[in-house]
Amino acid sequence: MLILGIETTCDETAVAIVQNGKEILTNTIHSQVELHRKYGGVFPELASRSHIERLPSVMKMALQEAKISIAEIDLISVAKGPGLIGPLLIGMNYAKALSWGLEKPFIGINHVEAHLYAAMMGPSPALFPSLGLVLSGGHTFLVFMQEIGSYTIIGSTVDDAIGEAYDKVAKMLNLPYPGGPEIETLALQGDPRAFSFKPGQVKGKPLHFSFSGLKTNVFYTIYGQNSSSSNKDLICPLSLEEKSSIAASFQEAALQDVVTKTLLALEHYPCQAIYIGGGVSCNKRLRTLFSEKIPTTPLFFPPKGLSLDNAAMIAGLAFHKYQRQESADSLSLEPETRPLLL
Ligand code: KG4
Ligand code: ZN
Repeated sequence: MLILGIETTCDETAVAIVQNGKEILTNTIHSQVELHRKYGGVFPELASRSHIERLPSVMKMALQEAKISIAEIDLISVAKGPGLIGPLLIGMNYAKALSWGLEKPFIGINHVEAHLYAAMMGPSPALFPSLGLVLSGGHTFLVFMQEIGSYTIIGSTVDDAIGEAYDKVAKMLNLPYPGGPEIETLALQGDPRAFSFKPGQVKGKPLHFSFSGLKTNVFYTIYGQNSSSSNKDLICPLSLEEKSSIAASFQEAALQDVVTKTLLALEHYPCQAIYIGGGVSCNKRLRTLFSEKIPTTPLFFPPKGLSLDNAAMIAGLAFHKYQRQESADSLSLEPETRPLLL
């Protein structure tokens, strides 16, 4: 089954063609990072406009690369949310128009669930029951998975997502957006023990996450207890060496927390494997920590190019969802901007 995937939930305009859930014929992405960089984050209206401008050409490039004519596609899939409403509407309406015009079935896919599925797109067959961990700019979740489509959320963030915390700390250090890769690179030169930052614990919910206190702790360490974070143009007063150690100490605290809570989850939910997806899953320190601390349970990360937002994970998951659901979605399907659910 040849499935077209469309992803426009945030600042990537992406189109992919995937056969039978895994075989990627093309994974074409136009990133808007340069467009948003000067604002230090995603500017929603500009994101919408850029999706409108780019989607037709990204689509054309994808078909050319896959050497597929649109008539050969069996199913049109699109990320239905969560995400920014403007960008979501553009992808959704584009997919609906294609479906209607070409008389092909149409299906909406949850973007967060697709991030988890991305970690299952490697060569090995997926193992269940398993634990899933979504670490992205908008979401931080631990889920127990019985099979694809059957999940129980066992931990989630009560404030910032982990990627959001990376981006905000990067801003405090005057690093460009997106902050995750910048912090990772800077941390390589720093001392992770220089500052004792602690991520939050949620009372009575040991598997939940809280990164807001950690972020504030970093802020006061850089700017002093009496500073206000509402000043958007703060100039970081630290030397490169100090900045590197702040980056390394923040990263170590955040990632150790994720690994510790995953270990705790494993004690309560015996699982055959752990699947880790979302933008932060491409972080090398995260991958090293997981393999050091959890050497016996098989760990799966997304193959190259599938950690950050992409449409291959949408088209891949659509294969399973369409079979399970045994029908297409109606063209009256609305985007879902709510933070979740699966
Ligand atoms: O999954 P994603 O592409 O988009 C969302 O659905 O949110 O994740 C983007 C997030 C950003 O916060 C970005 O800073 C973070 O992933 N990120 C990283 C790295 N690469 C991207 N965080 C830590 N280390 C990285 N190497
Ligand atoms: Zn995402």
